Amino acid sequence: MTSIPLCLTDSITPEQFLSEYWQKKPLLIKQGLPQLIDMFEPEDMLGLAVEEDASARLLIQAASKHEGLPQWQLKKSPLSEADFDNLPAQWTVLVQNMEQWSPELGQLWQAFDFIPQWQRDDIMVSFAPKGGSVGKHYDDYDVFLAQGYGSRRWQLGKFCDKGTEFVANEPIRLFDDMGEIIFDEILEAGDVLYVPPKLSHFGVAQDDCLTFSFGCRRPNLMQIIDSLADIATSDSDLFIPMLLPQTLQASGALQADSIDAIKEQLLQMLQSKRGDDIIRQAVLEVVSKRQYDVLVPEETLDTDELMQALMDGATLQADYSNRLLYSQTNDAVTLYANGQRLDDLENSAAALLSRLANGEHLTYQDVKDIDLDEVNEWLENGWVWVNYNE
Ligand code: SIN
Ligand code: CO
Repeated sequence: MTSIPLCLTDSITPEQFLSEYWQKKPLLIKQGLPQLIDMFEPEDMLGLAVEEDASARLLIQAASKHEGLPQWQLKKSPLSEADFDNLPAQWTVLVQNMEQWSPELGQLWQAFDFIPQWQRDDIMVSFAPKGGSVGKHYDDYDVFLAQGYGSRRWQLGKFCDKGTEFVANEPIRLFDDMGEIIFDEILEAGDVLYVPPKLSHFGVAQDDCLTFSFGCRRPNLMQIIDSLADIATSDSDLFIPMLLPQTLQASGALQADSIDAIKEQLLQMLQSKRGDDIIRQAVLEVVSKRQYDVLVPEETLDTDELMQALMDGATLQADYSNRLLYSQTNDAVTLYANGQRLDDLENSAAALLSRLANGEHLTYQDVKDIDLDEVNEWLENGWVWVNYNE
């Protein structure tokens, strides 16, 4: 059971979105995420931005441009209340990793369930008063910009590339020329705008405004190679055999054919069954890693309290500020949480964790036959949370 409908309208199926829009063109989804309306007030976010553990940025725009001087000023967390005193008219505060602060907000990822969990990054919120923006820019990732409070005017322009030049001496990547404007609309609370990577965009708050960015990510191949090395460096089967040249050679030289032979062995190993196994593990470790430190939940339940809560109708759900993923091969399901493989799981526990990873809400009936102490550990690790409001 999942409770949040997809954010697409009736006229677009997930398959259509993936084939026609994803990574290609923008899409406005009017009232795609009505659950966001009134979920937060600007004051909530301003309070969060000054929390000790918050990952926040304050971006201040000078009232006028002065030749050679930066127009923007960036201050990163820790932010304090004093940072918000005497600000000019236009500024924005951004807080990353919002799932960490609000599992209920994190659950809204389910509206984007056509994007696999491993490709999701985090939810960022921005607050800006009227006129505030983060300038004209592009991002390297797909993003769903969801309006939560107030309204924001979004303009979309040209696709950029590596050659796009940014304004010099500014603390953020910005440019002046967005090319031809292909979209110009005001988003109201509940509206969602999908923006593909590298598409220039510019959003200006029309009034006190909260925008939630559901951002995606693409792991870099080199991260996978790095992880492969961690997994298998000490595996003695993977040592390169001694390669002695057929003919006597100068002892200081490493011959090109020796390098070719090593490359060939590397490729063969990657193509082998052993290669399949370690690549699978490396990919899962990389994509299940969190970008932000885990903040251990402050309030924990003892096992009896957990059982009581579930018996009273609460449900157990994945906490999307943690990363719970699984991979299914012919013979087994292997679970990963926050970059680590979960060994020694009973089949029944693995089955429940897979269902949670898929976004299912588990009830007392679902979990009653397994050791609730173990479920409580999942809770303490932050992989799951208890929703009392089902
Ligand atoms: C914003 O919320 O102001 C900026 C989000 C973005 O442009 O990606
Ligand atoms: Co952006």
